[in-house]
Amino acid sequence: MRKSIIFLSIVMLTIAFSSAYAQENEEGRRFGNFCSSCHGTAGAAVSDAIPSIGGQHKDYLKNSMMDMKPMVVDGKEQTPKRYSTLMKIFLKGYSESEIEAMADWYSSRPWVPTSYPLNQDLVAKGKVSKHLETCVSCHAANGNNTSDAGIPRIGGQVPTYLYNSLLEYKNDKRMTERAEEMAIVKEISDEELKALAEYFSSLK
Ligand code: HEC
Ligand code: HEC
Repeated sequence: MRKSIIFLSIVMLTIAFSSAYAQENEEGRRFGNFCSSCHGTAGAAVSDAIPSIGGQHKDYLKNSMMDMKPMVVDGKEQTPKRYSTLMKIFLKGYSESEIEAMADWYSSRPWVPTSYPLNQDLVAKGKVSKHLETCVSCHAANGNNTSDAGIPRIGGQVPTYLYNSLLEYKNDKRMTERAEEMAIVKEISDEELKALAEYFSSLK
Protein backbone atom coordinates (compact mmCIF):
# COMPACT_ATOMS: atom_id res chain seq x y z
CA MET A 1 0.00 0.00 0.00
CA ARG A 2 2.74 2.43 1.07
CA LYS A 3 4.75 1.64 -2.02
CA SER A 4 1.85 2.34 -4.32
CA ILE A 5 1.21 5.70 -2.64
CA ILE A 6 4.86 6.67 -3.13
CA PHE A 7 4.70 5.49 -6.72
CA LEU A 8 1.50 7.47 -7.30
CA SER A 9 3.08 10.60 -5.78
CA ILE A 10 6.07 10.29 -8.12
CA VAL A 11 3.78 9.94 -11.12
CA MET A 12 1.75 12.99 -10.08
CA LEU A 13 4.87 15.07 -9.44
CA THR A 14 6.22 14.12 -12.87
CA ILE A 15 2.95 15.19 -14.49
CA ALA A 16 2.97 18.47 -12.53
CA PHE A 17 6.56 19.22 -13.59
CA SER A 18 6.06 18.44 -17.24
CA SER A 19 2.87 20.50 -17.45
CA ALA A 20 4.66 23.42 -15.74
CA TYR A 21 7.31 23.19 -18.44
CA ALA A 22 4.72 22.93 -21.21
CA GLN A 23 2.99 25.96 -19.73
CA GLU A 24 6.18 28.02 -19.86
CA ASN A 25 6.58 27.16 -23.51
CA GLU A 26 2.90 27.88 -24.14
CA GLU A 27 3.36 31.28 -22.50
CA GLY A 28 6.33 32.00 -24.80
CA ARG A 29 4.27 31.05 -27.84
CA ARG A 30 1.40 33.30 -26.74
CA PHE A 31 3.66 36.31 -26.17
CA GLY A 32 5.33 35.54 -29.49
CA ASN A 33 2.09 36.00 -31.46
CA PHE A 34 2.71 39.74 -31.60
CA CYS A 35 6.27 39.26 -32.83
CA SER A 36 5.33 37.15 -35.85
CA SER A 37 4.15 40.20 -37.84
CA CYS A 38 7.83 41.14 -38.23
CA HIS A 39 9.85 38.01 -37.39
CA GLY A 40 7.67 35.63 -39.42
CA THR A 41 5.83 32.50 -38.39
CA ALA A 42 7.73 30.84 -35.53
CA GLY A 43 10.59 33.28 -36.05
CA ALA A 44 11.59 32.44 -39.64
CA ALA A 45 12.37 35.87 -41.13
CA VAL A 46 10.65 37.10 -44.27
CA SER A 47 12.57 40.36 -44.77
CA ASP A 48 16.34 40.77 -45.26
CA ALA A 49 16.76 43.29 -42.42
CA ILE A 50 14.71 41.68 -39.62
CA PRO A 51 16.48 38.67 -38.11
CA SER A 52 15.31 35.09 -37.93
CA ILE A 53 14.90 34.20 -34.26
CA GLY A 54 13.30 30.73 -34.50
CA GLY A 55 15.99 28.15 -33.70
CA GLN A 56 18.46 30.80 -32.45
CA HIS A 57 20.39 29.76 -29.32
CA LYS A 58 18.44 30.38 -26.14
CA ASP A 59 21.07 32.19 -24.05
CA TYR A 60 21.89 34.52 -26.91
CA LEU A 61 18.17 35.26 -27.52
CA LYS A 62 17.59 36.10 -23.89
CA ASN A 63 20.77 38.24 -23.61
CA SER A 64 20.01 40.09 -26.82
CA MET A 65 16.53 41.06 -25.61
CA MET A 66 17.68 42.04 -22.11
CA ASP A 67 20.45 44.15 -23.70
CA MET A 68 17.96 46.04 -25.93
CA LYS A 69 15.38 46.54 -23.16
CA PRO A 70 15.56 50.02 -21.59
CA MET A 71 16.00 49.61 -17.82
CA VAL A 72 14.76 52.11 -15.27
CA VAL A 73 17.20 52.97 -12.44
CA ASP A 74 16.12 55.46 -9.74
CA GLY A 75 13.18 56.48 -11.87
CA LYS A 76 15.45 57.26 -14.83
CA GLU A 77 15.42 55.32 -18.09
CA GLN A 78 18.91 54.12 -19.03
CA THR A 79 20.27 53.85 -22.56
CA PRO A 80 20.27 50.12 -23.39
CA LYS A 81 23.66 48.43 -23.90
CA ARG A 82 22.59 47.39 -27.36
CA TYR A 83 21.31 49.83 -29.99
CA SER A 84 18.01 49.03 -31.70
CA THR A 85 15.57 50.90 -33.91
CA LEU A 86 12.33 49.16 -32.89
CA MET A 87 12.96 46.49 -30.28
CA LYS A 88 13.65 49.01 -27.50
CA ILE A 89 10.02 50.16 -27.80
CA PHE A 90 8.45 46.68 -27.61
CA LEU A 91 10.74 45.23 -24.95
CA LYS A 92 9.74 47.91 -22.44
CA GLY A 93 6.45 46.05 -22.06
CA TYR A 94 7.94 42.63 -21.18
CA SER A 95 9.32 41.42 -17.84
CA GLU A 96 12.49 39.34 -17.60
CA SER A 97 10.49 36.14 -17.04
CA GLU A 98 8.30 36.87 -20.09
CA ILE A 99 11.46 37.47 -22.15
CA GLU A 100 12.86 34.18 -20.83
CA ALA A 101 9.64 32.38 -21.88
CA MET A 102 9.87 33.84 -25.39
CA ALA A 103 13.58 32.94 -25.65
CA ASP A 104 12.65 29.42 -24.58
CA TRP A 105 9.86 29.07 -27.11
CA TYR A 106 11.68 30.64 -30.08
CA SER A 107 14.85 28.64 -29.47
CA SER A 108 12.78 25.43 -29.64
CA ARG A 109 11.46 26.29 -33.14
CA PRO A 110 13.26 25.06 -36.29
CA TRP A 111 15.93 27.31 -37.86
CA VAL A 112 14.96 28.15 -41.44
CA PRO A 113 17.96 29.30 -43.53
CA THR A 114 17.08 32.40 -45.55
CA SER A 115 15.83 32.01 -49.10
CA TYR A 116 16.44 35.71 -49.76
CA PRO A 117 18.20 36.15 -53.16
CA LEU A 118 21.89 36.74 -52.40
CA ASN A 119 24.55 38.61 -54.33
CA GLN A 120 26.77 35.72 -55.48
CA ASP A 121 29.77 37.98 -56.20
CA LEU A 122 29.73 39.09 -52.57
CA VAL A 123 29.28 35.51 -51.33
CA ALA A 124 32.39 34.49 -53.34
CA LYS A 125 34.37 37.45 -51.94
CA GLY A 126 33.38 36.57 -48.37
CA LYS A 127 34.44 32.98 -48.89
CA VAL A 128 38.04 34.00 -49.63
CA SER A 129 38.29 36.74 -46.98
CA LYS A 130 41.50 36.40 -44.97
CA HIS A 131 39.46 37.07 -41.81
CA LEU A 132 37.03 34.19 -42.32
CA GLU A 133 39.19 31.74 -40.40
CA THR A 134 38.95 33.90 -37.26
CA CYS A 135 35.14 34.20 -37.53
CA VAL A 136 34.86 30.45 -37.94
CA SER A 137 37.05 29.78 -34.89
CA CYS A 138 34.13 31.03 -32.76
CA HIS A 139 31.06 30.71 -34.99
CA ALA A 140 32.00 27.28 -36.51
CA ALA A 141 32.42 26.50 -40.21
CA ASN A 142 28.65 26.35 -40.81
CA GLY A 143 27.98 29.47 -38.71
CA ASN A 144 26.33 27.48 -35.93
CA ASN A 145 28.51 26.84 -32.89
CA THR A 146 26.37 24.47 -30.83
CA SER A 147 28.80 24.24 -27.90
CA ASP A 148 28.29 27.83 -26.67
CA ALA A 149 24.67 29.07 -26.49
CA GLY A 150 25.89 32.67 -26.05
CA ILE A 151 27.38 32.73 -29.57
CA PRO A 152 24.61 33.49 -32.06
CA ARG A 153 23.78 31.28 -34.98
CA ILE A 154 24.69 33.25 -38.13
CA GLY A 155 24.78 30.60 -40.91
CA GLY A 156 21.63 31.24 -43.00
CA GLN A 157 20.68 34.44 -41.12
CA VAL A 158 19.32 37.24 -43.36
CA PRO A 159 22.07 39.32 -45.07
CA THR A 160 21.23 42.97 -44.38
CA TYR A 161 20.62 42.25 -40.71
CA LEU A 162 24.02 40.49 -40.43
CA TYR A 163 25.79 43.40 -42.09
CA ASN A 164 24.03 45.95 -39.85
CA SER A 165 25.04 43.91 -36.79
CA LEU A 166 28.70 43.91 -37.83
CA LEU A 167 28.61 47.69 -38.26
CA GLU A 168 27.05 48.05 -34.81
CA TYR A 169 29.95 46.16 -33.19
CA LYS A 170 32.43 48.14 -35.28
CA ASN A 171 30.90 51.48 -34.28
CA ASP A 172 30.47 50.67 -30.57
CA LYS A 173 26.68 50.54 -30.75
CA ARG A 174 26.52 47.10 -29.15
CA MET A 175 28.26 47.43 -25.82
CA THR A 176 27.14 44.00 -24.61
CA GLU A 177 29.01 41.85 -22.13
CA ARG A 178 30.56 39.73 -24.88
CA ALA A 179 30.96 42.46 -27.53
CA GLU A 180 34.73 42.43 -26.97
CA GLU A 181 34.91 39.04 -28.64
CA MET A 182 33.78 40.80 -31.83
CA ALA A 183 36.65 43.34 -31.68
CA ILE A 184 38.15 41.92 -34.89
CA VAL A 185 35.51 43.79 -36.94
CA LYS A 186 37.31 47.06 -36.16
CA GLU A 187 40.19 45.97 -38.39
CA ILE A 188 37.95 45.05 -41.34
CA SER A 189 36.66 47.45 -44.02
CA ASP A 190 32.88 47.90 -44.41
CA GLU A 191 33.14 46.41 -47.89
CA GLU A 192 34.72 43.22 -46.62
CA LEU A 193 32.22 43.01 -43.73
CA LYS A 194 29.42 43.14 -46.29
CA ALA A 195 31.00 40.23 -48.16
CA LEU A 196 31.41 38.22 -44.94
CA ALA A 197 27.76 38.88 -44.03
CA GLU A 198 26.61 37.70 -47.46
CA TYR A 199 28.80 34.59 -47.20
CA PHE A 200 27.41 33.58 -43.79
CA SER A 201 23.87 34.16 -45.11
CA SER A 202 24.53 31.63 -47.88
CA LEU A 203 25.26 28.80 -45.39
CA LYS A 204 22.58 26.29 -44.40
C1 HEC B 1 7.79 46.01 -36.09
C2 HEC B 1 8.70 44.90 -36.31
C3 HEC B 1 9.14 44.05 -35.11
C4 HEC B 1 8.36 43.46 -34.14
C5 HEC B 1 6.85 43.54 -33.96
C6 HEC B 1 9.27 42.70 -33.30
N1 HEC B 1 10.57 42.83 -33.75
FE1 HEC B 1 12.23 41.93 -32.93
N2 HEC B 1 13.43 42.93 -34.28
C7 HEC B 1 12.98 43.83 -35.22
C8 HEC B 1 14.12 44.53 -35.80
C9 HEC B 1 14.09 45.59 -36.90
C10 HEC B 1 15.27 44.01 -35.15
C11 HEC B 1 16.73 44.50 -35.28
C12 HEC B 1 16.99 45.44 -34.09
C13 HEC B 1 16.25 46.77 -34.22
O1 HEC B 1 16.67 47.60 -35.03
O2 HEC B 1 15.24 46.98 -33.49
C14 HEC B 1 14.79 42.99 -34.22
C15 HEC B 1 15.64 42.22 -33.41
C16 HEC B 1 15.20 41.23 -32.54
C17 HEC B 1 16.05 40.32 -31.81
C18 HEC B 1 17.57 40.24 -31.89
C19 HEC B 1 17.99 39.03 -32.70
C20 HEC B 1 19.48 38.86 -32.83
O3 HEC B 1 19.90 38.01 -33.63
O4 HEC B 1 20.24 39.53 -32.13
C21 HEC B 1 15.24 39.53 -31.05
C22 HEC B 1 15.66 38.42 -30.11
C23 HEC B 1 13.87 39.94 -31.30
N3 HEC B 1 13.88 40.98 -32.22
C24 HEC B 1 12.76 39.39 -30.69
C25 HEC B 1 11.47 39.89 -30.82
C26 HEC B 1 10.34 39.44 -30.03
C27 HEC B 1 10.39 38.32 -29.01
C28 HEC B 1 9.26 40.19 -30.43
C29 HEC B 1 7.86 40.18 -29.85
C30 HEC B 1 7.75 40.59 -28.47
C31 HEC B 1 9.70 41.09 -31.49
N4 HEC B 1 11.05 40.88 -31.68
C32 HEC B 1 8.89 41.98 -32.17
C33 HEC B 1 11.66 44.05 -35.60
C34 HEC B 1 10.53 43.67 -34.85
C1 HEC C 1 36.20 35.27 -30.09
C2 HEC C 1 34.95 34.76 -30.65
C3 HEC C 1 34.34 35.48 -31.84
C4 HEC C 1 34.96 35.82 -33.03
C5 HEC C 1 36.42 35.68 -33.44
C6 HEC C 1 33.90 36.38 -33.88
N1 HEC C 1 32.70 36.37 -33.21
FE1 HEC C 1 30.94 37.06 -33.92
N2 HEC C 1 30.13 36.89 -32.08
C7 HEC C 1 30.73 36.32 -30.97
C8 HEC C 1 29.88 36.50 -29.82
C9 HEC C 1 30.15 36.01 -28.41
C10 HEC C 1 28.74 37.23 -30.25
C11 HEC C 1 27.57 37.72 -29.39
C12 HEC C 1 28.03 38.96 -28.63
C13 HEC C 1 26.92 39.64 -27.90
O1 HEC C 1 26.30 39.02 -27.03
O2 HEC C 1 26.64 40.82 -28.24
C14 HEC C 1 28.93 37.44 -31.69
C15 HEC C 1 28.01 38.10 -32.52
C16 HEC C 1 28.10 38.14 -33.89
C17 HEC C 1 27.06 38.67 -34.78
C18 HEC C 1 25.70 39.20 -34.37
C19 HEC C 1 24.61 38.20 -34.77
C20 HEC C 1 23.23 38.64 -34.43
O3 HEC C 1 22.32 37.79 -34.46
O4 HEC C 1 23.00 39.82 -34.14
C21 HEC C 1 27.56 38.55 -36.07
C22 HEC C 1 26.85 38.94 -37.34
C23 HEC C 1 28.88 37.99 -35.97
N3 HEC C 1 29.19 37.74 -34.64
C24 HEC C 1 29.71 37.72 -37.05
C25 HEC C 1 31.09 37.50 -36.96
C26 HEC C 1 32.03 37.60 -38.05
C27 HEC C 1 31.66 37.87 -39.50
C28 HEC C 1 33.27 37.38 -37.51
C29 HEC C 1 34.61 37.44 -38.20
C30 HEC C 1 34.93 38.73 -38.84
C31 HEC C 1 33.09 37.12 -36.08
N4 HEC C 1 31.75 37.21 -35.78
C32 HEC C 1 34.10 36.83 -35.18
C33 HEC C 1 31.96 35.69 -30.98
C34 HEC C 1 32.92 35.85 -31.97
